[in-house]
Amino acid sequence: MARIASVHAREVLDSRGWPTVEVDVRCDDGALGRAIVPSGASTGAAEAHELRDGDVSRYDGRGVLRAVASVNGEIAATISGLNVVDQAAIDRRLIALDGTPNKHRLGANAILGASLAIAHAAAAAQRVPLWKHLNRLAAEAFVPLSPPTPRMPTPMTNMISGGAHAGENIDFQDILIMPTGAGPMSERLESIARVYRRLADLLETADLEGRLVGDEGGFGPRLESNESAIEFVASAIKEAGFTFDQMQIALDVAATQLYNCRNKNYRLMQFVKIVMPSEKLAEFYARLIARFPLASVEDPFAEDDWAAWSEFTAKHGNKLQIVGDDLIVTNPGRLKRVIAERAANAVLIKLNQIGTLTETLETIRLARQAGFRTIVSARSGETEDTTIADLAVATAADQIKIGSIVRSERLAKYNRLLRIEEELSAC
Ligand code: PGA
Ligand code: ZN
Repeated sequence: MARIASVHAREVLDSRGWPTVEVDVRCDDGALGRAIVPSGASTGAAEAHELRDGDVSRYDGRGVLRAVASVNGEIAATISGLNVVDQAAIDRRLIALDGTPNKHRLGANAILGASLAIAHAAAAAQRVPLWKHLNRLAAEAFVPLSPPTPRMPTPMTNMISGGAHAGENIDFQDILIMPTGAGPMSERLESIARVYRRLADLLETADLEGRLVGDEGGFGPRLESNESAIEFVASAIKEAGFTFDQMQIALDVAATQLYNCRNKNYRLMQFVKIVMPSEKLAEFYARLIARFPLASVEDPFAEDDWAAWSEFTAKHGNKLQIVGDDLIVTNPGRLKRVIAERAANAVLIKLNQIGTLTETLETIRLARQAGFRTIVSARSGETEDTTIADLAVATAADQIKIGSIVRSERLAKYNRLLRIEEELSAC
């Protein structure tokens, strides 16, 4: 049995050059676990609190030295000496130590960094890959459901970026693709990369920016409309030689970013400014669904526009994956309401929206119980940390959403999936 011997955090930088928290957990047997916390740009209001220093003399106030101090002080003192495999009990202690509903005292970035580093250390102490250890934790967390069988998720990969990730060139945040075939990950990644290259060619030929990319590596061209972005992606799929049965299109509208909660209108900004209530926005989506091979739509409405979500799911939920990101924020309580109100049929899973591994597994359990699809997701601010690849495999997630197929903070996760796939086939 390995016990936690030391806990050490430091400030490191993420893919946007902003500070974030890295935590090292070392066990008394020498096993080391390390994790780095990601950071969102289009965040939901109900997310757990990311603690930033607010000291404008460093990193425009976005330093994380206070969160680092939480880990090196109170958190280290609380968890030192505990059995590193007792993830759920340790996470419960961390939640109690913070004592606030959204983890704002110690910082969700501090707590999650510790929570994930503990899981990595436990895997190292048991000399098993992280996905195997997470699979055991998931099996315990999913009771009374049957334990998940580890498997490769389907990649949902960004092709064109907009909204908060690409200077609001278009309103929709992501136009993505999903290969439907069940082939090896290496083949699926080749298919995705092929579509990405054909998209670059099409954009260049149209005198658009086929080289400039947004925060997640998707192209960020200044297009005339959201529809035109989907058209380009559809054309790239065809140019790459795929049918829409082989390669589907998905959207992340991130509509909370477009919503004015005072007049309950959505503002689509592009070139011609259009303001519309949720009913009109739903009609716009219905036209897109009729015109394009859309398999999945994420955050079509704002995080508190509940009625619009339920109506949309009643109308399109039998043929379309409707994903709650800002709506659910990986929070078991919000997911329960979504299930009760039939406000979506799938949930995006982002560890730092809730702030511990144990609560994340609880959200995934609830989703499975309700027959919701699960999509494990990166954030727009990422690092070389690859924990989500292991989490997706360990929980048998339906999809993984990492961003695009370029930029090393994205590729670190895809490449990790390739390694895990080898381990899985050796089992
Ligand atoms: P975020 O974006 O990390 O900036 O929140 C990702 C998403 O909305 O899915
Ligand atoms: Zn989203």
